[in-house]
Amino acid sequence: MSELLFSPLRIGNIQLEHRVVMAPLTRMRAKDPGRAPYQLNAEYYGQRASAGGLIISEGSPVSDTAHGLPATPGIHSSEQVAGWQQVTDAVHRRGGRIFLQLWHVGRISHSSHLPAGSLPVAPSAIAPRGYAMSADFRPVPYEAPRALSTKEVVAVVQDFVQAAKNAMAAGFDGVEIHGANGYLIEQFLQEKTNQRTDEYGGSIEKRCRFAIEVAEAVTSVWGEGRVGIRLSPFGTANDSGENDPLPLYQHLIRRLASINLAYLHLVEPRASGAGQAEVNHKDVPSASELFRPLWPQVLIAAGNYTREGARAAVADGHADAIAFGRLFIANPDLPLRLRCNANLNRYDRDTFYGGHAAGYTDYPFLSHAEGLV
Ligand code: FNR
Repeated sequence: MSELLFSPLRIGNIQLEHRVVMAPLTRMRAKDPGRAPYQLNAEYYGQRASAGGLIISEGSPVSDTAHGLPATPGIHSSEQVAGWQQVTDAVHRRGGRIFLQLWHVGRISHSSHLPAGSLPVAPSAIAPRGYAMSADFRPVPYEAPRALSTKEVVAVVQDFVQAAKNAMAAGFDGVEIHGANGYLIEQFLQEKTNQRTDEYGGSIEKRCRFAIEVAEAVTSVWGEGRVGIRLSPFGTANDSGENDPLPLYQHLIRRLASINLAYLHLVEPRASGAGQAEVNHKDVPSASELFRPLWPQVLIAAGNYTREGARAAVADGHADAIAFGRLFIANPDLPLRLRCNANLNRYDRDTFYGGHAAGYTDYPFLSHAEGLV
């Protein structure tokens, strides 16, 4: 089989040496108080960097009202920018590239994370089903969010702009807009979470407006070819889901294709909710196969990829690169292991979120003695 997965790829004006990307992975290990990255996080990302390889950071909240989980590293204070600089330095020292994932959780939050106990904000005041995680890592029922006014929506676009500038100051190579998995941008896209009657709600065109404004505004900061966007059509994570996703995402992807983005990053529906549980949903479409014809630029696919699945998807042209999540948690040297068909370490879900070095920086690297098969 051809080794396209290990061949170079140009993303915007960045040259990658292989197509094994590290997916964005929230690990809830920022320094608190301050919600800033620090030396432990720099070590973790540095371990996962490879020459000419691309890492997408964990979701990084764009403002103090964008947080929804404990110990997630933000990108809205000078302490956070300095902390992220340690991370980007560690990745660059090993010849890697790193994009920051810009994140606003919207209603998937809890007042314990927010300024002076204020309520989460969202397109409409509709509470998600299920449980949030409070600031002290306890499950608590979701609160009904407060609907953003039209003026506030415009201000949130500016929060993305400021965060994009901060990411540049922190030494990132680009940014990815988190438009997936039931968070704020997806809450605007989908009818069940967006019942607005202003220009940000109603028709498909109006529900897509916020996402497109964010993409255009962030591109105006970074320039063309330095901004990616992550979407999860047909996903159901965090109480999301559109009844008829096809026309919505066709319209959105066509509109985004006219902004010169670095890439489109699609989460495969079979893996929707993988952050919360082990899932492999059946009878769901392949997002990358479905939307590839609409997307002329680089397409990254993620979700339950194995080595063989990734090689096949790239060889068949369904995606240009594959992002790996859980396998990258457990295998700091995943690109090397995939390339030489080595054994993979197993991940431990109990240590995905919170804690310190255990389950974070202590997964072993491939040693020469280890099973090359
Ligand atoms: C995730 N995922 C995720 N996605 C995202 O866009 N931003 C994030 O911050 C996170 N955080 C996160 C944490 C953890 C612990 C997991 C397991 C997952 C989703 C992730 O990027 C990926 O789409 C899924 O894990 C499916 O890919 P794999 O794991 O099957 O390769």
